Amino acid sequence: MAFDLETCARYNILALEPYRCARDDYKDDGTNILLDANENAYGPSLSLSSLSISTSPNDLSIDLLGLNRYPDPHQAVLKQLLCDLRNIHVHTSKNITPENLFVGVGSDEAIDALLRCFCVPGHDKILTCPPTYGMYAVSAQVNDVGLVKVPLLPAPEFGIDVEAVTSALSGSESNTIKLVYICSPGNPTGSLIQKSDVQKILEHPTWNGVVVLDEAYIDFAHENSSLAEWVTEWPNLVVLQTLSKAFGLAGIRLGAAFTSEPIARLLNNMKAPYNIPNPTSEIACQALQGGISVMRSNVEKIVGQRERLLSELPKLKGIGRFRGGSASNFLLVELVDATGNPDNVTALHVYEKLAETKGVVVRFRGKEHGCLGCLRITVGTEKEVTRLLEQIEVVLQEVHGTTRPTSAAIEEMKEITANAVL
Ligand SMILES: Cc1ncc(COP(=O)(O)O)c(C=O)c1O
Repeated sequence: MAFDLETCARYNILALEPYRCARDDYKDDGTNILLDANENAYGPSLSLSSLSISTSPNDLSIDLLGLNRYPDPHQAVLKQLLCDLRNIHVHTSKNITPENLFVGVGSDEAIDALLRCFCVPGHDKILTCPPTYGMYAVSAQVNDVGLVKVPLLPAPEFGIDVEAVTSALSGSESNTIKLVYICSPGNPTGSLIQKSDVQKILEHPTWNGVVVLDEAYIDFAHENSSLAEWVTEWPNLVVLQTLSKAFGLAGIRLGAAFTSEPIARLLNNMKAPYNIPNPTSEIACQALQGGISVMRSNVEKIVGQRERLLSELPKLKGIGRFRGGSASNFLLVELVDATGNPDNVTALHVYEKLAETKGVVVRFRGKEHGCLGCLRITVGTEKEVTRLLEQIEVVLQEVHGTTRPTSAAIEEMKEITANAVL
């Protein structure tokens, strides 16, 4: 038999480092407190009285008996509801309409669709600003698309280095860079990017490319921060959003790209015809009607717990500075060693101890650019935050108290830190 996977599969897929998450290591076994994936612990933004399993095709609820039919390929009703949410008339007087929208299986589908739409494999590149969301790089590699990295300005602002981005878009690689991915608020930075910085990149005089603004966490930032409606003013702006975060609907996998009509047309032309399952669009429609008040009330609770973490965490010995902003549903915080310096060995030790002995899963981010010694902690419910604060204090006492890890253990952890893809 001549089959050889090593020469038959695409070389970039064979070489792929897949997206890794804390849940590859620590499963959702029903007992762990999961503060690792920036989900909404307060639950879905659905008004529960309106959620019935219906057998009537006219009812705006889950039509189980209609599941023999393919879904609506255009999702016009869902798109209009997304437009209604984002037509705030703060950044433009124009209206976005369903023609400005692509909806996908999470915003991850849109991230990938944009790459396939604009980048020729083996030739073109995207520009990212680390530290940032890992899927931009993974999707680029899957599509055999190169990566140009222009780091964010240093913490705690983690703003865009506009000068460096502009110069990359004018340099020798500029005609192959097709997309600039900007995350606002950033993951893992929690920093909102300034509108004027986005504008400077959009106005680049020679670069022929598209700015993708990922607003997955925008509803945790201050009101009217979303630039979704601004796509009516630019031919080359895409704003990504998702129902996975503030709306608490990570399980239905619904993301959206707001953009100019011509770009939206291209994205819609290339998608699989029935990419949004019926139950997903029905639940999404409910969330975008009766669920908006639930979403706002849950966001308020999360913001309250975020404030609590901001004031309580620094009181613990072994916690260093917050890095980045607090415009999201997570915080990025330093863990320090006995000398008070941010330290990855300590951070990884605390991360592992919290998950393995205390049932609290957060995310180690110490290997990301500018995030030395950092854990990213999703803001949970009041009860979860209480448990996190109690348990992290216990672990920190073990680390900084009499039971410091042995030097052999520290060496072992250094090895793990050096090799970890986390
Ligand atoms: C910045 C950012 N963009 C996009 C996503 C993906 O979201 P979705 O669930 O819509 O695929 C995430 C998920 O964590 C994220 O952090």
